[in-house]
Amino acid sequence: KRRIGVMTSGGDAPGMNGCVRAVVRMSIARGCEAYGIYEGYEGLVQGGKLIKQMKWSDVRGWLSEGGTLIGTARCAAFRERPGRLQAAKNLIVHGIDALVICGGDGSLTGADILRDEWQGLLKELVSNKELNQDQVEPFKHLNIVGMVGSIDNDMSLTDATIGCYSSLSRICEMVDVIDSTASSHQRAFVIEVMGRHCGWLALMAGVSTGADFVFMPEKPPSENWEAQMCSLVSKHRKLGKRKTIVIIAEGAQDRSLNKIPPTKVKDLLSNELGLDTRITTLGHVQRGGSPCAYDRQLSTLQGVEAVQAVLDATPETPTPVISVIENKIVRKGLIEAVKATHEVTNAIKAKNFDRAMLLRDAEFVE
Ligand code: F6P
Repeated sequence: KRRIGVMTSGGDAPGMNGCVRAVVRMSIARGCEAYGIYEGYEGLVQGGKLIKQMKWSDVRGWLSEGGTLIGTARCAAFRERPGRLQAAKNLIVHGIDALVICGGDGSLTGADILRDEWQGLLKELVSNKELNQDQVEPFKHLNIVGMVGSIDNDMSLTDATIGCYSSLSRICEMVDVIDSTASSHQRAFVIEVMGRHCGWLALMAGVSTGADFVFMPEKPPSENWEAQMCSLVSKHRKLGKRKTIVIIAEGAQDRSLNKIPPTKVKDLLSNELGLDTRITTLGHVQRGGSPCAYDRQLSTLQGVEAVQAVLDATPETPTPVISVIENKIVRKGLIEAVKATHEVTNAIKAKNFDRAMLLRDAEFVE
């Protein structure tokens, strides 16, 4: 019986529990055993009680749960070879030769390094006399399959990361809540949203709530953005709008790559336009809580595909990442996806903003 490990890594995202549930149940349905690796890479390195077999009923009710019930952690030890050696030993001791990981690009790249080093690690375990040849013999290859879990929607070669639509819905709900109090007092609000280096949450929240102005890292505003924003906001006010909503991505920057702080936007709205302005940082309310229907569906379909990808893999198959493209669940090369993602950040760093928007498939934004 094959034993498939499942773990979540990096920042939690709504839908991660749906991934674990789908991987556990699909593994069992396909005659395999499923193992939960708790606390992300920490569990892989520490082993012991942090690696547990999971049965069908262990994941009952997990679809609607927020966060990740098997935990996640940032693990420095796994970044070093001795940590990965320990991880390899723990996998073999538990009889696990395939790992399905739901996390961001960093977490998935880490897993691929383990796969690359696998044979070398096994040799080292034998030569260190930590395991004998008979123990390592059945574990010639390690299969890794990635699923992208992140609220940021910052991975290339997939249309949506698991969690991004739940986060977007929460942001919209919160902006609606702010709308009513803003309108009552005719106030302006500068609302900061998460997303790290990616402006997807900010942009989509702006479109979905009819915000007056959006700041995002991939498309910094024009050089004279201060005057442009003020004239747009005052135009909207003249048209009868009783409130002003400016959405600012946490990674927002100007064309010289200097961070645009929400306080700067607030000061402009207050001092130039005389608007009573408040700043709201939405913070982790965007990340926790129950997944929306789309993320429940996406995590389930991708979890099923991930197990199928494990069963289909040959030693030559490059590590796949399960993506969704034009509403189809597909497999892409993990390394290609990570490379394409880094290209966006490189384009931003090189101030090639048109290219960054093109790579993000958002070239339609004016
Ligand atoms: O990647 C998800 C994310 O929520 C980002 O949007 C944000 O920048 C970061 O994680 C916050 O991380 P932490 O919860 O460790 O502060």
